[in-house]
Amino acid sequence: MVGIAAALLPWFWQNRRVLPFRQEPSAYHIWVSEIMLQQTRVSAALPYYERFVAELPDPAALAACEPDRLRKLWQGLGYYSRVANMQKAARIVCEQYGGQLPASWQALRALPGIGDYTAGAIASIAFGIPAPAVDGNVLRVFARLFDDGADITRPETKRLFTRRVLEEMPKDAPGPYNEALMELGALVCLPGAPRCAACPLAALCQGRAAGRAAALPCKPPKKEKTRLPVTVALIESPAGLLLQRRPARGLLAGLWQPLAFEGQALDRAGLAAALADLGLGALAVAWQAPLPAARHIFTHRIWELGGWRGAAAQALPLPEGFVWARPEALAGTYPVPSAFAAYLPGAGGAQKMSKKPV
Ligand code: ADE
Repeated sequence: MVGIAAALLPWFWQNRRVLPFRQEPSAYHIWVSEIMLQQTRVSAALPYYERFVAELPDPAALAACEPDRLRKLWQGLGYYSRVANMQKAARIVCEQYGGQLPASWQALRALPGIGDYTAGAIASIAFGIPAPAVDGNVLRVFARLFDDGADITRPETKRLFTRRVLEEMPKDAPGPYNEALMELGALVCLPGAPRCAACPLAALCQGRAAGRAAALPCKPPKKEKTRLPVTVALIESPAGLLLQRRPARGLLAGLWQPLAFEGQALDRAGLAAALADLGLGALAVAWQAPLPAARHIFTHRIWELGGWRGAAAQALPLPEGFVWARPEALAGTYPVPSAFAAYLPGAGGAQKMSKKPV
């Protein structure tokens, strides 16, 4: 097919959004933005992006950031392992590359948390290296352009589409071309409802010609997520709310939360017994009111939350891994997953979403 880039780039220069990481497209800025945009809409990610790069302006600052502070800066974005990997990568960048991200696709790809897509985005946008950057938006655009009904979740489909993306790439403008494809997917070639009348590639689009654009791309139906009950105990003492640190590995690693028992639907008696098992029996919590039912959707599971609000008359000393957090510390110091936002309004944040196009 001829002419994709020739039709796409003028449209991009006229229609692209003004975004802070486009004003100052350093490799570090592109990296931060691309990791955030893997999980969140541009509009929701922007305040996080601005705050993150203001406080951590370069890889050295990221490498040195205290982990709880780092998780606090990420609070509300979800997928906390991504920011932990960014810090690991930043440390390597400082040790091996003098604090600057390397201008090499292979070297970028070898860093923790940087996959094919992110390496391609940084290499092409920041360094002008002709590498493809194929995300869900770009797969959708190419499925429609080529009227290709192959399952885009299959690695061989992704390889074939990536080859096509590369074949169409103008080697003197790889960054703008990659970003233009993403932008087209985000603004025009929308999932389910492509805006073909506004599309600079409409005349080239085989999916549109076949009347199939809206039905593409093909992917298998999503698997049902596992539903897990989670019993929450929101316990206040004169010294604040009782928080517990989550384990250092696994889901939401290292974050702080109100007492919560995953996979368990506990009544008040069960909750009291569970507290005793944690060495917290001496708090003698007076249970006051049930918490309203809430739900939080992760990539692979759904938490069905409920529980109780309770009071401890005294702020007794706590075992390792538990703290009393006053409202200021809850808001400013302890990173708390937004899964608990229904009970702790301060733990809200960007609505986390899987691969949103806009
Ligand atoms: N989505 C992910 N990265 C993007 C970018 N650089 N521009 C527009 N949308 C994006």
